[in-house]
Amino acid sequence: MVRLSFVGTLLAITATAYAEIPQQRDLQACDSCYPGSPGTQCQAQAGGVCYNLNASGQCPAGTSPCPGVVETGPPCRDLGKEVIDQGCTEAFPTCVYANGGQVVGGLGGHHCALCINSRFPSNAGQVAPDEGCDEEFRVCVGSRPLAANVEGTACALCVNSISAATDPNDIDDGCPPTAPICVNDSGQSPALRTFGTKCVANCVDTSRLGADRGCPRGYPICTTADGADPGQGNAGVQCAVCSPLLCDDNDPCTDDICDPLVGCSHVDNGSCSCGGGVVASDWQCTLPTPICTQYPRVGVYDCICDVDVEGSPFCWRDNNCVNVASCSSNADCGPTQRCASSCCGDGHCFEDCALSEGSNESRRRLTPAELFGPTGAHF
Ligand SMILES: *[C@@H]1O[C@H](CO)[C@@H](O)[C@H](O)[C@H]1NC(C)=O
Ligand SMILES: *[C@@H]1O[C@H](CO)[C@@H](O)[C@H](O)[C@H]1NC(C)=O
Ligand SMILES: *[C@@H]1O[C@H](CO)[C@@H](O)[C@H](O)[C@H]1NC(C)=O
Ligand SMILES: *[C@@H]1O[C@H](CO)[C@@H](O)[C@H](O)[C@H]1NC(C)=O
Repeated sequence: MVRLSFVGTLLAITATAYAEIPQQRDLQACDSCYPGSPGTQCQAQAGGVCYNLNASGQCPAGTSPCPGVVETGPPCRDLGKEVIDQGCTEAFPTCVYANGGQVVGGLGGHHCALCINSRFPSNAGQVAPDEGCDEEFRVCVGSRPLAANVEGTACALCVNSISAATDPNDIDDGCPPTAPICVNDSGQSPALRTFGTKCVANCVDTSRLGADRGCPRGYPICTTADGADPGQGNAGVQCAVCSPLLCDDNDPCTDDICDPLVGCSHVDNGSCSCGGGVVASDWQCTLPTPICTQYPRVGVYDCICDVDVEGSPFCWRDNNCVNVASCSSNADCGPTQRCASSCCGDGHCFEDCALSEGSNESRRRLTPAELFGPTGAHF
């Protein structure tokens, strides 16, 4: 899975040949310059010693080009970060010195590099791509571990940058925190500081709601591929910030969503929506609560538009399903109550706002448990 470059190899050979132009020919005296012929390109004076263009493609100090010789300037020049440098190409975007060090500050360099190890080692646990690499193959690698800001010859998917044995919070270079371990084609960690071809999570569900073994600190929950809880003692394949268990807000009106990278969110799934109008066709738990116009918010509680189990519209006092008695008909309920199926489930007795209006009970301040339920979840 490594994007190796043969062009890079060719370029390196060319650059080497260029550097090895026999220097002693510079010192030979020559009568005249021959354009394009090594050793006969620059002279201080006619009939004097001939010199080659130097590594920057220019005549050495004190000499000038022979007739017909064009100074080429350095093969490449730095134009800044994240751009293709002058004289370089999209495939080889970054100007480097002969030793592979990145050229900066607008200076001229020796050749163009495929990629630069620009994020490591200053940023272990790298997720952003190295210069010259892309989102899929993020890490610039060479035939041996690269120093910072030095030319590499390939972009790898990941590098085993941290030994899992030394740091339980191991997130290898190039790997996302949800799959923090870099492995090779046989599924094993490659030697330290060498590249792998896949990022995985080797985790086990060791805690119901707390951190599981094998996941990094910020993404402590081990889950299956579809984000579910593997169950105590079972292996998972992904590390996440949440699980369905953690995200369950006990609100029957919402779908509870766990985004492994972001966390829990709760989306009204429409199952609690009111039919609208003064008389409701169904119950509703979402905010703003549908308050019956004839029974506006009374002091400290809301009335919810609904129909009772016998199909008659009424409005019940919002009590978030705490301490509600089961029923199958209005007769099962108290004198000021009616039986309704609601977000609390099938058939429960609710205070009818119309019958209890003005009574002490309907004005009583709800306890936090009644208002928000045992989990503290809000409607
Ligand atoms: C080549 O010669 C020019 C002109 O003297 C000089 O500015 C430049 O630094 C030289 N380059 C190298 C690599 O020696
Ligand atoms: C993967 O890495 C292990 C340990 O470094 C090594 O023994 C194995 O040969 C490697 N497999 C491949 C396919 O590179
Ligand atoms: C809405 O979510 C609740 C609780 O998560 C669920 O019981 C109900 O079936 C869902 N309704 C729809 C229409 O998806
Ligand atoms: C309502 O509350 C008042 C004052 O708290 C009390 O005097 C009265 O007896 C109560 N009425 C009923 C019907 O409970």
